Amino acid sequence: MLLGVNVDHVATVREARRDIEPDPLKAAELAINGGADGITVHLREDRRHIQDRDLIGIRKRVKTVELNLEMAATDEMVGIALKVRPDMVTLVPEKRAELTTEGGLDLKKSGKKIKKAIDAIQGKGMPVSLFINPSITDVEISKKLGAKMVEIHTGLYSNAKGKRQIEELKRVKKAVKRAHEIGLLVNAGHGLNYTNVKKIAAIKAIRGLYIGHSIVARTVYDGMENAVREMKKLIEEGAK
Ligand code: PXP
Repeated sequence: MLLGVNVDHVATVREARRDIEPDPLKAAELAINGGADGITVHLREDRRHIQDRDLIGIRKRVKTVELNLEMAATDEMVGIALKVRPDMVTLVPEKRAELTTEGGLDLKKSGKKIKKAIDAIQGKGMPVSLFINPSITDVEISKKLGAKMVEIHTGLYSNAKGKRQIEELKRVKKAVKRAHEIGLLVNAGHGLNYTNVKKIAAIKAIRGLYIGHSIVARTVYDGMENAVREMKKLIEEGAK
């Protein structure tokens, strides 16, 4: 099972200061050193984290693993995808006020727009994945729209506890099974972390998991001691 690492929130920290660091490209290279099978960036319409230059830089340097561009199905984003040529595109719903992608695509309401984006992108040889809720209907509509892949939203599973989480896990499993049966490549992601990932990883038909926030959060904890130690050393040297 592949692991695609989403480096958006490295850019979130950088954009908090409009600085040049931390650089999501450097984070992507370190993620690849750590075994990432893919790198994901979400170029949002409001550019709140990843910038166009990040995407271009990452495309130039990320050649050995799959680059997945997450984006809304708009003409602007389709144009960027065709120019930058990621290895795959994941279409997601996007609302300006949301903190993160809140739910899967509304395939009934936006089917036409999504189909147009799929045709334009897949027509140029890049597979498209649709980020959808764990629903059999949405899996079947995704197939009809012609997407090669789907990514099943694991957010409700990730946020639920106890019995509710078992029910959400069942929904994810059913959606994965149906997607696999009808010949879609099937991924999963959102909200996965170090405590909830194993049950999703146990679903054999899943091709890859797409994880961001929990990995970036863990990176802060794992790096803090060394970062402080190094700064202390410099201060002590300077103060001598
Ligand atoms: N998959 C999709 C389609 C997403 O929009 C996101 C969030 O950017 C993720 C996976 C990763 O979610 P998280 O940051 O919660 O791991």
